[in-house]
Amino acid sequence: MNKGAVRPLVLALITACAATAAQAGEVEVLHWWTSGGEAKAAVALKGTLQAKGHSWKDFAVAGGGGDSAMTVLKSRVVSGNAPAAAQIKGPSLQEWAQEGVLANMDDLAKTEKWDESLPKVVSDIMKYQGHYIAAPVNVHRVNWLWVNPEALKKAGAKAPTTWDEFFVAADALKKAGIVPLAHGGQNWQDFTSFEAVALGLGGVDFYRKALVQLDPATLKSPTMDKVLSTFRRLKDYTDRNAPGRDWNLATAMVIKGEAGMQIMGDWAKGEFVAAGKTAGKDFLCLPAPGTAKAFTFNIDSFAFFKLKSEANQKAQRDLASAIMSPDFQELFNLNKGSIPVRMGMKMDKFDDCARASSKDFADSAKASTLVPSIAHGMAVPSAAEGAIKDVVSQFWNSDKMSTAQAMDRLVAAAKQR
Ligand code: BGC
Repeated sequence: MNKGAVRPLVLALITACAATAAQAGEVEVLHWWTSGGEAKAAVALKGTLQAKGHSWKDFAVAGGGGDSAMTVLKSRVVSGNAPAAAQIKGPSLQEWAQEGVLANMDDLAKTEKWDESLPKVVSDIMKYQGHYIAAPVNVHRVNWLWVNPEALKKAGAKAPTTWDEFFVAADALKKAGIVPLAHGGQNWQDFTSFEAVALGLGGVDFYRKALVQLDPATLKSPTMDKVLSTFRRLKDYTDRNAPGRDWNLATAMVIKGEAGMQIMGDWAKGEFVAAGKTAGKDFLCLPAPGTAKAFTFNIDSFAFFKLKSEANQKAQRDLASAIMSPDFQELFNLNKGSIPVRMGMKMDKFDDCARASSKDFADSAKASTLVPSIAHGMAVPSAAEGAIKDVVSQFWNSDKMSTAQAMDRLVAAAKQR
């Protein structure tokens, strides 16, 4: 190359660097991804943003399910100090947008064709009054049963596909001195099991009527009675240290073979993978009993707050753009245990659990058996969600509460607004 050709190139580079430096901003991101697999996924997000020249200010608030994170976020926003982005999901996005604190991302969404890249059921959740205020990172399936095959083998038990089979396997594990069901007694974990039982025993229509539409006659019905008694039976198969245990510690019990099974969303797979375990060999991912044809979804998304600084607004847009990029969606979800939410992504780097999830997501969308997770804030206004979760955990914790009492309380809780 001659000197004449090099000069313009150098000049162009200097201008480009100066532009990047001038526009480099900071994004503060609130999330609750602090377990082994979750943290790896969060690092993928951080790295993607830093590669664009911005700095990442981590605002991690520990606590599975995000209840603590939401409390901290509220106080930050009320004091006029919102982060650039926060992990907010489902109907809560609408509640935050109503407060007028979220930024409109339509320009970017239009340029990058978000409408064309996302299933409509997902893009609708990301919009408030037709405008994008959030971007999704994944689809988690919640109705999974994680199994240690070695533990089942020791107990001479068979992997269950129905709730009846579940109790047969659980009895065998108990006899073999293995904790049948790894559980953490926190209300979102209790509800994760409860909604799996409701879907498995009651089916999709019952699930929707009772837990999505909050129909009083279905919340208090013979099917709900059966669901509650079956849910309570699970407790006999958990260990004494379950109360208050974090979900990832419960997953660790299955990883180590101290427990045989866990009912949990596929962020649990992130833990197996982070521990170097292989799907289909060291652990099995099975649909929660009786729910093979349905898919309980939980979509993680980031909402974007209105910011004053132009450089930070630019960094925020770059974060949103990174979140929606195919490369990021692949890397993030390989670590997180979930599947990409963008349509048309190749799944060749993903394991059997993720491929099954991807196929079942598409099949259940067609068959109309795709249902939102209540435990993970996908369907019900937050006040009602909190109240029905409390009832279910009180029922789990108090042997004195009858199923009839629990149903009356569920009906009352569902009215909370
Ligand atoms: C979130 C997941 C997270 C899990 C456990 C769920 O509500 O959607 O991203 O891994 O909670 O913390």
